[in-house]
Amino acid sequence: MRILGIESSCDETAAAVVEDGTKVLSSVIASQVDEHKLYGGVVPEIASRRHCENICWVVSQAMEEAGTTLDALDAIAVTYAPGLIGALLVGVNFAKGLSLASGKTLVPVHHIKGHIAANHIAHPTLQPPYICLVASGGHSHIVRVRSHTSFEVLGRTTDDAAGEAFDKVARVIGFPYPGGVQIDKAAQNGNPDAYRLPKPHAAGPYDFSFSGLKTAVINLVHHAQQKGETIHPDDVAASFQKTVCEILVDKLMRAAQDYGLDVVAVAGGVSANSGLRALLEKEASRRGMQLYMPPLPLCGDNAAMIASQGYYELLDGRWAGADLNAAASMDLERDNESYRK
Ligand code: KG4
Ligand code: ZN
Repeated sequence: MRILGIESSCDETAAAVVEDGTKVLSSVIASQVDEHKLYGGVVPEIASRRHCENICWVVSQAMEEAGTTLDALDAIAVTYAPGLIGALLVGVNFAKGLSLASGKTLVPVHHIKGHIAANHIAHPTLQPPYICLVASGGHSHIVRVRSHTSFEVLGRTTDDAAGEAFDKVARVIGFPYPGGVQIDKAAQNGNPDAYRLPKPHAAGPYDFSFSGLKTAVINLVHHAQQKGETIHPDDVAASFQKTVCEILVDKLMRAAQDYGLDVVAVAGGVSANSGLRALLEKEASRRGMQLYMPPLPLCGDNAAMIASQGYYELLDGRWAGADLNAAASMDLERDNESYRK
């Protein structure tokens, strides 16, 4: 089955053609990061406008690189939630137009489920059930993946997402947007034990709270500046990264143990972090668990993961009509139930 995926939930306009959920025939990504960098973060209105300008050529290029025609497609999968509403609407409306014109089935895909599906592209042998840590710019979840289309959120962040904390801390240290990757680089030259940072308590056993940790780093930097002391950005980055990674991995492993599962995975932009990947490998092997991680090009936003998840959703009888709307927020559980015919 050949599916065209379309993704426009944040600052990447992406399209891809994927066969049977795992074989990527093409994957095109137009990133707007250089423009948003000027403002220190994503400007929603600029993102929507760039999606408008880019979506036609991105989809055409994905179709061309895959050597496919609209006729040869089985369905069009599109991210409809969650994300920036104006950005999502561009992809959703484009996919609706294409579906109406071609008569191809329209499949709505939840962005976070797409991130998780990146693991199925890279590791076709990975089968649910397993526990997945999702850490992106907007979300931090511990998810029980019951099947390819049924997901239970066991824990979530009660304030900032992990990626958001990376980006905010990066800004205070003086690194450009997007900060996560800058912290990752700087941390490689820093001492992770240079600063003792707090691990804030969160409500549930698998919940996260990162705002206290972020504030601790901000205070550390400001106090040092006030006293005229020198702060070592590499050491701050390494100490912060170590603390975040320990929190994320601890909750993931705890959930897997409590639910009697020895298969774990990670997904989302932060899963590209080298410190997180190293700690996951160490802890999974210490516990004799099987660990799955997406390769770096599939960690961030892309449309191959949307086409892949679209395949599993379509097999499960999910599709939408011309009334499909975008949604800025959408629980994974609510998404499990919607648009299933
Ligand atoms: O999944 P994603 O591409 O977009 C969302 O769905 O939000 O995640 C973007 C987030 C940003 O906060 C970015 O700083 C973070 O992922 N990120 C990283 C790394 N690469 C991207 N964080 C830490 N280390 C990295 N290497
Ligand atoms: Zn994402």
